[in-house]
Amino acid sequence: MSGISEFNAAANADIGREHEIQLGLLRELCRAAGGSGDPDLVGEILQRLIDYSEAHFASEELLMRMKSYDDYEDHVEDHSQILDALRDVAAKHRRGESALVAGRATETLDFVDRHIATRDRRFADYVRNNL
Ligand SMILES: [Fe+2]
Repeated sequence: MSGISEFNAAANADIGREHEIQLGLLRELCRAAGGSGDPDLVGEILQRLIDYSEAHFASEELLMRMKSYDDYEDHVEDHSQILDALRDVAAKHRRGESALVAGRATETLDFVDRHIATRDRRFADYVRNNL
C-alpha cells in the first residue's frame, strides 16, 4: 500500500470512529431527554455533543479542503444545519423549554444518521479512491 492510500484509509477509519462517538452522544441525549430526564444531565450531554460535533466537523472539513472535495459547499451546509439545530435545542433547554428537547434530539439524530449514510459515505468513497 502506498503512503497516500495508507493515509486515506487511516483518515476514513478516524472519521468512522468519530461518527460512532457523535451518534452515541445523540442517542444518550435522546434517552436522557425522554422520560423524566434530569435537566442538568441533559444540559451536560448537549454541551458535550455540541463541542464534539464542532471538533469533528472541523476535522472533516479540513480533510475535504486538503482533498479539493467537489461536494464541499453542500456538505458544509449540512454541518451548519446540524450545529444550528443543536445550539437551538441547547438555548431552548436553558430557557426551560425542556419538553421540546426530546423531539428535536430525535429529529437531529435522524438527520445525522442520513448525513452519515449519504454525504459522509460519498466523501469516504472519494477519499478511498484519491490516490
Ligand atoms: Fe459530514
